[in-house]
Amino acid sequence: MILCVGLVLACGFLWYWYLTKNHKYWASRGVAGPQPLPIFGTYLCQFFTPFQDSELERYEKYGKIYGIYDGTQPGLIVGRPDLVRQIMVGQLALDVFRNRRAVKTTHPVMAKFLSSLEDDTWKRVRSITAPTFTSGKLKRIIPCMTAASGPLLANLAAAAANASDLDLKALFGAYTMDVIAHSAFATTPDDVFVQQASLLFTFPFWRKFLDYIVPMAVLEKFSFTVLPKDPMTFFREVTIRIIRHRRATGEMHHQDFLQLLMDAEETEETGSDVKKKLTEEEILAQSVLFFSVGFETSSQLLAYAGYCLALNPDVQDTAYEKIIEALQKKYGTEIPEEIDPEELTKIKYLNAVLDETLRLYNPVLRMERRASSDFQLGDTNIIIPKGMIVGIPVWAMHHSEEFYPDPWAFDPERFLTGNIVPGTYLPFGDGPRNCIGSRFALLESRIALAKILLKFKFVRSPTTKVPLEFFPTGRPLLGPKAIVVRVEERN
Ligand code: HEM
Repeated sequence: MILCVGLVLACGFLWYWYLTKNHKYWASRGVAGPQPLPIFGTYLCQFFTPFQDSELERYEKYGKIYGIYDGTQPGLIVGRPDLVRQIMVGQLALDVFRNRRAVKTTHPVMAKFLSSLEDDTWKRVRSITAPTFTSGKLKRIIPCMTAASGPLLANLAAAAANASDLDLKALFGAYTMDVIAHSAFATTPDDVFVQQASLLFTFPFWRKFLDYIVPMAVLEKFSFTVLPKDPMTFFREVTIRIIRHRRATGEMHHQDFLQLLMDAEETEETGSDVKKKLTEEEILAQSVLFFSVGFETSSQLLAYAGYCLALNPDVQDTAYEKIIEALQKKYGTEIPEEIDPEELTKIKYLNAVLDETLRLYNPVLRMERRASSDFQLGDTNIIIPKGMIVGIPVWAMHHSEEFYPDPWAFDPERFLTGNIVPGTYLPFGDGPRNCIGSRFALLESRIALAKILLKFKFVRSPTTKVPLEFFPTGRPLLGPKAIVVRVEERN
């Protein structure tokens, strides 16, 4: 009995030691930061408050550089623009900061996501997939976007006719789901598809937390994955079915991401050529990844844009005038259904509306890089050791009075005057590991927004929340509650 109690105490002591052994790391180096707690490190508040609130509070309290603890592990937050650029852009970014936090997963699809790949494998897969997003390739996907805007406008017309409240999250979720399902898989999403897609993002955040506090070897034993397995497996099977069908029928003419990736598939095992191709598992993984990250982030962008315009009618009117002016110059008074996206790209004010929306509501709140060797941080005395995670506090920088005067105001003019400090505007990240899908996201958003503003106005309703409300997601992602406005037909 005594032996058992002793053993339990010893195990408890050892575990406590493991969970707190690093918690003096920053204090002993004179770096400020929040006080860590056993087990949780500095992460506990993110269970209860939206991630972005603690991010901004800490930036204001501890300054642009401060230490944190993800459970047991010390990490460094760096929000000084010159240092942010050093870490994210240029040769140093490739030499030292090319990887993110290692993803703890044994799942065959998740392990091959471009976002989780490292070093030479990442370089190879990125260089093969990047051409998928050139303007030429994206042009082929424009008909999907135009087709998906039909049901979107019909839903808006119904809501305008009934003067009913509209949840923009649901409205634009359906649009971007339609676009990405067609673009990634040449598929029209049915109910099961939509349900599985929503599960990709709605998982309890203790999963992320386990990722911080339990060693990889233990997680591997239990086949643990941070992202939920079932929807991943569902999309893997959908993709395999499509690939096999296309191969069996010789239907290789489709204009979607999957086909572009299949065209780059590994075909021969000879010479060094094989390194430049994708394996079948890699194709599957990128298709599922593009789908899963592509629809949620873009639908959030459109929902926030609609919300900001509803609260800022002057900006909305200016955007409408700039759009109509540009399109009438091109087409005369009969503006066609299929608008040339090149024309929309030229409308600076429309771009500025999207830029400002992404400043105010950047869906990815903090970005991460992992040091691959010891590194002295600029003119500070801080040494970032090999393996440490460096966080870039994008939300805090986007809402800093110093970089964006009157930071909570929605003012697209900021992006027209050329006064943005380099290294402070990062909705899509920066450097070699930036968002590969940014052009795609902006293209589909520009098309949808222009088409909507030509016919409708977003207006504030009695139930519109000001300010918006967010869930604590426990992850560096914005988790908006419903985003409710009304729409009216434009006369
Ligand atoms: C408004 C929409 C979007 C936002 C705000 C967004 C934001 C981001 C951010 C902040 C990153 C990390 C960048 C960094 O670490 O420097 C990222 C990475 C990534 N994004 Fe997006 N994204 C959006 C849409 C998309 C779309 C539509 C796709 C694909 C169809 C996509 C695919 C990816 C991929 C694959 C990565 C990882 C790239 C790599 O590691 O090489 N994103 N995104």
